[in-house]
Amino acid sequence: MADEKRIKSGEAAEHGIVKPDPKPCNGFTSKAIDLLEKLLVKFMYDSTKPHHWLLGNFAPVSDETPPTKHLPVKGYLPDCLNGEFVRVGPNPKFAPVAGYHWFDGDGMIHGLRIKDGKATYVSRFVKTSRLKQEEYFGGSKFMKIGDLKGFFGLVMVNMQILRAKLKVLDMSYGQGTANTALVYHHGKLLALSEADKPYAIKVFEDGDLQTLGLLDYDKRLNHSFTAHPKVDPFTGEMFTFGYSHTPPYITYRVISEDGYMHDPVPITISEPIMMHDFAITENYAIFMDLPLHFRPKEMVKEKKMIFTFDPTKKSRFGVLPRYAKNEMQIRWFELPNCFIFHNANAWEEEDEVVLMTCRLENPDLDMVGGAEKEKLDNFANELYEMRFNMKTGLASQRKLSASAVDFPRINESYTGRKQRYVYGTILDSIAKVTGIIKFDLHAEPDSGKTKLEVGGNILGIYDLGPGRFGSEAVYVPRVPGIDSEEDDGYLIFFVHDENTGKSAVHVIDAKTMSADPVAVVELPHRVPYGFHAFFVTEEQLQAQAKR
Ligand SMILES: [Fe+2]
Repeated sequence: MADEKRIKSGEAAEHGIVKPDPKPCNGFTSKAIDLLEKLLVKFMYDSTKPHHWLLGNFAPVSDETPPTKHLPVKGYLPDCLNGEFVRVGPNPKFAPVAGYHWFDGDGMIHGLRIKDGKATYVSRFVKTSRLKQEEYFGGSKFMKIGDLKGFFGLVMVNMQILRAKLKVLDMSYGQGTANTALVYHHGKLLALSEADKPYAIKVFEDGDLQTLGLLDYDKRLNHSFTAHPKVDPFTGEMFTFGYSHTPPYITYRVISEDGYMHDPVPITISEPIMMHDFAITENYAIFMDLPLHFRPKEMVKEKKMIFTFDPTKKSRFGVLPRYAKNEMQIRWFELPNCFIFHNANAWEEEDEVVLMTCRLENPDLDMVGGAEKEKLDNFANELYEMRFNMKTGLASQRKLSASAVDFPRINESYTGRKQRYVYGTILDSIAKVTGIIKFDLHAEPDSGKTKLEVGGNILGIYDLGPGRFGSEAVYVPRVPGIDSEEDDGYLIFFVHDENTGKSAVHVIDAKTMSADPVAVVELPHRVPYGFHAFFVTEEQLQAQAKR
């Protein structure tokens, strides 16, 4: 990246962004801890286990790619795709000292800048405090989720505590990876991971990406921030929450259109959980108290992961007026045991709050513990409709699909409002996306079907074909807003061909779900499988450039 276009740290600070400037220490203490860790790993960790999430196209790419122009385009890139399609994912810069979970890798953003039918590819690490410190040491130093199992997990937690206490690592700028999701709000693209604050990313005219720093909303944010905040397209507000291992386990926040973060609203639940997503409607925020518990004692005693799922507990959904100053008015509803990673949308219908979601039973976060399995059968997400009656206090649910569907997306002009179409990814496993699917919520599901096929409420499936796997598809409308047809637009997503080792971006017609893509853009490098995507419109890109 040319130096002249980079934003200097002083300029970033003027925009309320904290530039991480960690002060790790590589002295005798650091080396002594490294040696101790090495011995503990040698005697306690089975290093013969393969790292499933570092193999094949899960493996990281070693280098960033500066903007690479004039990519071959088969078909055409419509005008409404002017902007930048971005997707983030884990891309560990350094090899793990022991275990590795897919959630552990450093965030790398892969971007496709599209302008007037031409495409440019770029990839950049999110320069987190964690990555900066590991670059300083030249190796992996931070604790990994992949290590948090059994007594060894406790040992590795204590290694991290030791490094922090003895100031080998500097925790003052958080320890997140920014590897999970992206959102645009108040003129900024944000890279998110649920254990940290957002990182603000600058998108340049040529498509390049630069980490500006941590966004702490003028010191008003002092807890973690979900990877799945919701932006209300009608008010411009952003709604978010963070979860914690200490009370309050959930904290809800509202951020005005002008970027002001309002006071925290603690949400009381009985014990710490992993809450990956939530939802909003025009008047409510919906919280999910699902029994994926943070239980360090069980981790040690029962050799489990630190987050363990309790299949005996009910699922609880809390519906709170979205501008509530406290939780006095929250209404809790119960439904059968389940876990949910991602919601598609929510809205209100008379007395009911309706949640469209991808529900699964018996999740096992340990599916990554080395595993050789190609298919992870315990991640059988199904599309569900859940209804919470605010008058009667009763809840109900209805299955709308076979498995496995996740990463649901909608036309985001309808976030929080009743809408019709849901686009999801078909999962061969938690990680491998074999196709893109379109649901019609006005149609009845074909209850006789045990697998995902066109018919009933399934309007179309874009099958990627043998050996080809995708990632989350983002809907881009031909015309923004709600005046045009809800599905008059395109779906854009990364595809990797394991037969050839090549990656591409596919654009398909969301209305027809035709098997003939509108455009296929060939990429100069392999793009590893990753998590969530976002489309930065040309308007957003230009608005952010003015700030
Ligand atoms: Fe997610």
